[in-house]
Amino acid sequence: MFRYLADDTPDKNQQQVCIMINDRKVTVPANSSVWAAMAVSGETTTRLSPVSQQPRSAYCAMGACFECLVEIDGLPNQQACMQRVYPGMDVRCQAITEASQAVPAGQYYELSADQDAAHD
Ligand code: FES
Repeated sequence: MFRYLADDTPDKNQQQVCIMINDRKVTVPANSSVWAAMAVSGETTTRLSPVSQQPRSAYCAMGACFECLVEIDGLPNQQACMQRVYPGMDVRCQAITEASQAVPAGQYYELSADQDAAHD
């Protein structure tokens, strides 16, 4: 359904990275957004609605609507359309329900800082 425009004129020198999307290993161009990697891999559900549990997916693809929230390396609420892939990234469909436990704010920022430091 989705494909990269660059697939029409493949660049043999373009770097590829391997990431995991919902426990499936995929190889994508190194400059892809997480959303683009998900779309070309056929994983278009980014999250489940916390109210209706209906699948949601990216809408604006430019950081405005927050429909594309996913879990990246265990950190929830990451915008798939605004994040670039990196080797070993673990992306998961986000399913927050009424029974989900909130991550304490301090722990959330510790996780964010660890992620930023690991990928700078
Ligand atoms: S798709 Fe709208 S913020 Fe990501």
